[in-house]
Amino acid sequence: MQGKRILLGVTGGIAAYKSPDLVRRLRERGADVQVVMTAAAAEFVTAATFQAVSGHPVRTSLWDAAAEAAMGHIELARWAELVLVAPASADFLARLATGQADDLLATLCLATAAPIAVAPAMNHLMWANPATRANVAVLQSRGVRILGPGDGDQACGETGPGRMLEPVDLAGRTLALLPGSGALAGKRVLITAGPTREPIDPVRFVSNRSSGKMGFAVAQAAREAGAEVVLVSGPVAITTPPGVARVDVESAADMLAAVLRELPGTDVFISTAAVADYRPQCCAPQKIKKTSDRLDLSMERTADVLATVAAHEKRPYVVGFAAETEQVEQNARAKLMKKNLDMIAANEVGHDKAFDCEDNQLLVLGRNARHELPRAGKLVLARGLIELIAQDIAARGAVRQRGSALA
Ligand code: CTP
Repeated sequence: MQGKRILLGVTGGIAAYKSPDLVRRLRERGADVQVVMTAAAAEFVTAATFQAVSGHPVRTSLWDAAAEAAMGHIELARWAELVLVAPASADFLARLATGQADDLLATLCLATAAPIAVAPAMNHLMWANPATRANVAVLQSRGVRILGPGDGDQACGETGPGRMLEPVDLAGRTLALLPGSGALAGKRVLITAGPTREPIDPVRFVSNRSSGKMGFAVAQAAREAGAEVVLVSGPVAITTPPGVARVDVESAADMLAAVLRELPGTDVFISTAAVADYRPQCCAPQKIKKTSDRLDLSMERTADVLATVAAHEKRPYVVGFAAETEQVEQNARAKLMKKNLDMIAANEVGHDKAFDCEDNQLLVLGRNARHELPRAGKLVLARGLIELIAQDIAARGAVRQRGSALA
């Protein structure tokens, strides 16, 4: 973290008493920390405390003429390489989610191009309230990292999730969020997502139930891990994660062409798309009229995008997905070998499982490895998968280095 510029926002909550310690932990790791407090935070801790531990004047108001003259708020927003709000109260999460600019900290969060992380701290019922859940979901979808909260005894005497993470833990997690320091920093990751549409005539197509959510979550997780991410997506109704380049396609043939175009320079290819295996042999030039009682569609195989990439002469690290309705592990291992993959993430589909739902579970198989990622939200699973990929790539690099040192 040497010399990394972190803007620490402190909002009003009892956990603010831990924030001066957080400043010390960040500075111990070499970070340069400037603190901005909301008016409510000043009810819990004084600006003098933060000034003493950060070594910088503390900003509390948009309307402080002397502070603005020294470093204007837009300049401060530009100065930050990361904005960390700890503790982040329920009120602050709501203001951040609705894009308010009614005080200095909220304005800085709107004006910065740096990644934003928040460490929520509040009563467990406030954390569980649907309004807070919705605000957190909005923030997550915009790429804001939610650190915690922890579970346990609360200042109000109740027990549950809502405790701010401990300063040592927060400082460690902050390190991993700094641009250029993630597990996939410097890597280019190409991902396919969503269904494909195979035309029957100009107004009809054959497709499947894939929502694209898993692929978009994998793209977000790869981006969070510091990678340059290109997402080739079939038709879906979800927004692109921040910082991810998206290429829209329709058919399996379009997807293959886009992937081969984007492949040069790619370090990791992750194939989450539910690519159609068959397409109508010919697409009628005009809308098909209902002139007979039966209509037979003759279908032909599409190209296998994943297998094509895995067989490419300049092959990246290749990860496939296996959607199975039975014998998940056996079928997934067979696909790993047959398509010559480095890793495969398998899940059970059908019977309301996996497709178009919010959570899932994954069995991840490598050439010599087996991991189970238990049932969780798709973003949590995606982060787990990205971590496994990064670990495997790092382990192979270490083996190669040892090999060349011995040679
Ligand atoms: N895949 C692909 N192109 C295809 C079909 C599949 O890139 N034409 C990829 C998927 O993105 C996934 C993996 O292959 O990563 C496995 O997909 P799946 O549908 O589970 O298996 P298939 O290979 O289609 O085999 P089957 O339908 O027989 O199970």
